[in-house]
Amino acid sequence: MAYNLLKGKRGIIFGALDENSIAWKVAEKAHEEGATFTLTNAPIAMRMGAINELGKKCNAEIIPADATSLEDLEKLFTQSIDTLGGKIDFVLHSIGMSPNVRKKKGYGDLNYDWFLKTLDVSALSFHKVMQVAEKMDAISEWGSVLGLSYIAAQRTFPDYSDMAQAKAVLESIARSYGYRMAKSKKIRVNTISQSPTMTTAGTGVPGFDVFFNYADKMSPLGNASAESCAEYCIMMFSDFTRMVTMQNLMHDGGFSSSGITEDIIEELTK
Ligand SMILES: NC(=O)c1ccc[n+]([C@@H]2O[C@H](COP(=O)([O-])OP(=O)(O)OC[C@H]3O[C@@H](n4cnc5c(N)ncnc54)[C@H](O)[C@@H]3O)[C@@H](O)[C@H]2O)c1
Repeated sequence: MAYNLLKGKRGIIFGALDENSIAWKVAEKAHEEGATFTLTNAPIAMRMGAINELGKKCNAEIIPADATSLEDLEKLFTQSIDTLGGKIDFVLHSIGMSPNVRKKKGYGDLNYDWFLKTLDVSALSFHKVMQVAEKMDAISEWGSVLGLSYIAAQRTFPDYSDMAQAKAVLESIARSYGYRMAKSKKIRVNTISQSPTMTTAGTGVPGFDVFFNYADKMSPLGNASAESCAEYCIMMFSDFTRMVTMQNLMHDGGFSSSGITEDIIEELTK
């Protein structure tokens, strides 16, 4: 059921790779809720072609951009403002990638060039998006910028490797840039810390199935799905959350507040 929560709002959605992507679900819901937006992803990800299908469905133009390139980001904002007919009201940064995780490097054997790549793609790109937008004055007053995080920023999950550092930096950028944006334009900046979710980025982490099931049993409501994450994103883009900023918002079915659950006790006493 749609509520027209984003009627008249213009956005940019980063990171829809395929129909499992969290960004894909956000795009579908944003469309249902009356928003117009552009879709963007790294040029290399476009080769899969699935994003064209989403573009058609949502009547959204697709603009390739490597989120680590300031030049690409400038073009993206210019073209989006032009296509959508005005400044941007919401931005979803739904980007994560670690070459060390991809290539299964152990935490004691990290390749530091790849570590820097992890940080650039998964965290600094969030800063770059906002720095470019701020310099271009591309986001409207009371706009909303969101990044997606994971609880490995606060707690150790061994196989999450250098992505844990990237998420800690991402959340910190949300606070620092959130302050600037609030002061200059009343724009809010937050991260949503999402449950493990079956997507390309998620399932790329070794042992993902195990910690997906563990998190499910450790969360009184169970793991939050990509669809419910998208609903939360829509709420954060809507006018009902104007005073929420500089937060890392837990969207995890209660995982982060649970010490142990009956499901885990049952599992361990089998
Ligand atoms: N899946 C999970 O378990 C989970 C849990 C918590 C948070 N998250 C976060 O959610 C976000 C979205 O991931 P997802 O799970 O939907 O997976 P996904 O693989 O569908 O999305 C990741 C996206 O990042 C894009 N990307 C990578 N490098 C890029 C670059 N240089 N420029 C632009 N885009 C680039 C990819 O093309 C892809 O579309 C990520 O930040 C991820 O860390 C995921």
